[in-house]
Formats: sequence, C-alpha cells, structure tokens
Amino acid sequence: MSDAVPTPPDASPTTPSEEAAASPTASSAPSPEAYDDVPVEAWSGVHRGPLRAGEWVRLTDQKGRRHNICLEPGKTFHTNRGGMAHDDLIGREEGFTITSSSGGEYLVFRPLLAEFVVSMPRGAAVVYPKDAAQIVAMCDIFPGAHVVEAGVGSGALTCSLLRAVGPFGRVTSYERREEFADVARKNVGQFFGGPEGSDHPAWNLSLGDLAEELPRSGVRADRIILDMLAPWECVEAAADALLPGGIICAYVATTTQLSRFVETVRLHGGFTEPQAWESLVRDWHVEGLAVRPGHKMIGHTAFLVTARRMAPGERAPRKTRRPAPGAYGADYTGPRPADVPAE
Ligand SMILES: C[S@@+](CC[C@H](N)C(=O)[O-])C[C@H]1O[C@@H](n2cnc3c(N)ncnc32)[C@H](O)[C@@H]1O
Repeated sequence: MSDAVPTPPDASPTTPSEEAAASPTASSAPSPEAYDDVPVEAWSGVHRGPLRAGEWVRLTDQKGRRHNICLEPGKTFHTNRGGMAHDDLIGREEGFTITSSSGGEYLVFRPLLAEFVVSMPRGAAVVYPKDAAQIVAMCDIFPGAHVVEAGVGSGALTCSLLRAVGPFGRVTSYERREEFADVARKNVGQFFGGPEGSDHPAWNLSLGDLAEELPRSGVRADRIILDMLAPWECVEAAADALLPGGIICAYVATTTQLSRFVETVRLHGGFTEPQAWESLVRDWHVEGLAVRPGHKMIGHTAFLVTARRMAPGERAPRKTRRPAPGAYGADYTGPRPADVPAE
C-alpha cells in the first residue's frame, strides 16, 4: 500500500466560508501540526512523530530477537554486534533500520500494547493479548465504562481495560499481593507515561481481596473481570456490585475452575446462562507456494466465561432443555443448580 495521501477526485478550490458551510467542524479542525503527537488528554499510551528522549522503543534484530530500550541522550545501546548511540535514534520517525557499529541491522518501532505486555516485567502470569482482545470485545468494554478487575497481577489486562474505557471511564483494580501491585503500578505507569509520572486518571488500584473490599467500597460497576485462581469466591460480591445488564467475566486456566465458576454463577440465580469459550490463534507462514500453518502455536492460555446480571429480583427464563444424562450424576461434587436434584 502506498504511503501517499490520496487527493479527492473533485478537489475544486473552496473559500473558507464555503468550507465552514460544507462541514460544521471544518473551521475548527486542528491544523496538521496538531497531529504531531497524540493528545496527552487521550491517555492512549501512544506517541506519534519523531522519537523523543525518555520514550521506549523496540529494536528487533535480524533473528527476530527484541530489545526494549528507553531513549537517553548520550547513552549507547550495546549488542553482540557492536553499539549504537541513542542520539542516532532520537529525532527520527519510527519505522527505520539502524546499523550497529559492527554491522548488525535493527528494526526500530515504538512497541505496540500487545508487544509491551508480553515483554514487560512480570509478577504473575499475564492475560495474553489474544484474550485481552476477546475480553474487550465480548465484554463490550466501552469508553466511559466502570470496570472492576481482580487480580491486577502484572497489570497487562489493566492496560487494555484503561485503553478501552478511556480517561472518562474508571478501572477499579484489586490485588491482594503488594509485590504484584507494585509491579503492575510500574508497568501501567511505563505504558501510559503520564506527565511527571502521574497515574492514569481512570485507574484506582486497591490492595486487598475483591470479595472483601468491593462490598465495602460501594462501587457499582458495568463490568467485572476476574483473573484469579478461585473466581467463584467473588461471585456474590460481584453480583451485588454489578449494575443490571452488566457483565461478569472469568479467565480461568483449567476445566475444573471453569466448571466450578459456571455452576456457582448458575446457582446464584441472578445472571443469564453463562457462556464459556476459548480462543486459539494460529499463525500462518506465507511465502510463495509455501502457504501453511506455522509450526508453533500457543496451544492453551485460558478459558473465558461471561454472564449478564439480571435486574434485582429478576431471573432468566428456565431452561427447557434438560441437563445431559449423567452431567450431575453420582461423581459430580460441585455446586448443583437448584432445579437439578441429586441422582
Ligand atoms: C494471573 S494473576 C492476574 C494477571 C493480570 N490479570 C494480568 O493480566 O497481568 C492473578 C492475580 O490475582 C491475585 N488474586 C487472587 N485472588 C484475588 C482476590 N480474591 N482479590 C484480589 N486479587 C486476587 C493474585 O495475587 C494474582 O496476582
């Protein structure tokens, strides 16, 4: 695709007043210079325009190995193929190849959010970008939403949630381990890079257990995302905090967790029928006639479950379909829906 900006076919000259009449926003449209950087008020964590001192960039070598560096005037980045001066990167538009002193070639871009979260320091396992994307889309996280999440872990999902709710939304995160909260604070701070180290204005991180802290807080939420070992312990607190129509979502690694969470949500009775799924993403190798799936893939990350909160006192229509034979048989020991007698 060409980088050139296409000219409209019928670009006849117009006077400023004609332009204003044709488009109510035309006269107030920012000049091209205003696009030099993304407005700080957007809290996107993204910059555009020339690379600046203090920014993080990602260097990818010829073998695909990646290095994230923070640009500092006067500093040198040392590689096994010699060094390169940060000053040779500062001031250039990203998307270029730089050659180190011993001839190694490095691709230079600002890291994308999906790249940042898989390379940032980790306290706990992170929600992978493919799953964060599912959560944002399937939980319908919208600008202005109030989202509650626990645990915050390394802050990977937090970054996607903050991106999606924007500065007019709210993300209330709970984490019961202080050392993980500290890691998350640093990661989220590094990604959004607020002026003078300020935190994202939509973020509130509390230390403690969601099941205890959320009821005390009085928070009412549009969405609640649970990424923890025992999300069923938080269903009661989440149900009380969720607004009617709100969504509860759990991200669980094993089938036993999946079953226990789904049955606990069913037993609660104040939610719609839970939906469970997983997403598998497979890369493809595309080269001439060699077009085939890649040899490696991430086979499993976790399962996702969502259900919607009914209005107070309301319940979803009873299921007309009976459970599969043996589903709640003698070997089943988990939570049992009220209308399913023990066999
Ligand atoms: C897998 S990590 C979360 C990763 C995080 N979502 C991310 O994307 O980086 C799980 C975290 O949940 C925390 N945790 C477990 N149960 C919790 C609870 N009931 N309330 C708050 N945090 C909890 C753990 O301490 C751990 O840090």
